[in-house]
Amino acid sequence: MSLQTLSPHHSISLPSPNPNHSNGLGFDWPLRSVRHEGFKVCSVMSRDTRTQTQTQTQTQARKTDVLRLIDEAEESLFRTGKFGRFGGIFVPETLVTCLKMLLSEFNLCMHDPLFQGELSAALRDYVGRETPLYFAQRLTDHYKSSRGGEGPDIYLKREDLNHGGAHKINNALAQAMLAKRMGRRSVVAATGAGQHGVATAAACAKLAMECTIIMGNLDMERQSSNVLLMKHLGAEVKSVPGTFKDATSEAIREWVGDLERKYYLAGTAVGPHPCPAMVREFQSIIGIETRRQAMEKWGGKPDVLVACVGSGSNALGMFHEFVRDEDVRLIGVEAAGTGMDGETHSATLAKGEIGVYHGAMTYLLQDHEGQIIGPHSVGVGLEYPGVSPELSFMREITRAEFHTATDEEALDAYALLCRLEGICPALEAAHALAHLGKLCPTLPDGAKVVVNCSGRGDKDIETVSKYQQLKNGSVSDRNKSNHPTKTTSNVVNI
Ligand SMILES: Cc1ncc(COP(=O)(O)O)c(C=O)c1O
Repeated sequence: MSLQTLSPHHSISLPSPNPNHSNGLGFDWPLRSVRHEGFKVCSVMSRDTRTQTQTQTQTQARKTDVLRLIDEAEESLFRTGKFGRFGGIFVPETLVTCLKMLLSEFNLCMHDPLFQGELSAALRDYVGRETPLYFAQRLTDHYKSSRGGEGPDIYLKREDLNHGGAHKINNALAQAMLAKRMGRRSVVAATGAGQHGVATAAACAKLAMECTIIMGNLDMERQSSNVLLMKHLGAEVKSVPGTFKDATSEAIREWVGDLERKYYLAGTAVGPHPCPAMVREFQSIIGIETRRQAMEKWGGKPDVLVACVGSGSNALGMFHEFVRDEDVRLIGVEAAGTGMDGETHSATLAKGEIGVYHGAMTYLLQDHEGQIIGPHSVGVGLEYPGVSPELSFMREITRAEFHTATDEEALDAYALLCRLEGICPALEAAHALAHLGKLCPTLPDGAKVVVNCSGRGDKDIETVSKYQQLKNGSVSDRNKSNHPTKTTSNVVNI
């Protein structure tokens, strides 16, 4: 049975809570407590002040409401597998036992000092953490120059400097270690841009595990350097017709065919519980480091965090640590592809409808019959018709804002960062950078913006060169149908 055709009623109940555990829920990896702070209202006020105070009061009440919803969701997550009404475990019964075992092992790992110690050491010595929080002086000056020298300070969280060139290794390594603990010897994973494939192949080589990476044939053409890299790292790379969504379905099928031996290594925060929560936890190191580094650099928190949204792992990795800091704006940027008017985009949160896909309820790009609409983005890793259930929840409770950037805006942002900072970002990360053009003019002087530079763009140089040639009119008309139609300012030719 295909995971995607299961009805929403096909959910399962999770193991009952263990009352001996500290939070009474049975699954008690760090639940962060929240202080609901009251607010003072002066007794004598002018009408203006009163109106202002009422507005502040309403805003505060709304914010406190948001925090309450986050707390409730987080507490019920380990009982229900859901973030509000999103997420869940919409899978065939054969998978349920496996997912319960995974949840239980994950919970053990989160409390096992030995596992945590080994993971920290590997993240430090193998992955190269912590990654720098880099002040992008010239990028900052670029945006300030159009406002008479005023504007926010832009920092980049350099996940591109991780081993393998992206944030994906944080999660791939941790899950491969967990798989090994569970006695699995063979890992299967799906990849789109190839970054999760490279990360998984590397982790499996390090841990002496078999590795199969499944990839859509279209993605294999577009990210051919990563396909070679995965093979060099010892992985078997299997092609399926289509793109990332097709590869994911095939990887899950392969896993279901040999549950005893294989481990399905989810590369992003989608799929049935506990996959979204687990990937988020393993990626949350990004935000934890960011908080510490911000405190060291400017003695405070970031004002705004910006991350691209494919399926959600780099965004949640950055956001999770700050989700209860009401004064920190969280901005996710989806791929608008060739524009939001047609269907060639990957803007699931902007344009999707709620449905069930790959074992969870979330926003989806689907037609009126519930069939998936194929996503598009120049950032191959953003092409997924669904999105993390946690981001669907954050959108619903208005804890995070979501915007879009077109292919062309992302390509311009890529060029800008190359030229101004000597950093070549992955086209996925370039979508987050592209949003700066709209964001910076709205922020006060000196505001601190942190953009998650989720990966490096080596894999994209052919794609970028092709687009640049198209822009310069030097490619035959035959290929022009792929050319993005929208134009933007801030173009930097490379
Ligand atoms: C560098 C990079 N950033 C972002 C993404 C998008 O994935 P996610 O939304 O899970 O971070 C990918 C996916 O392959 C990627 O390679």
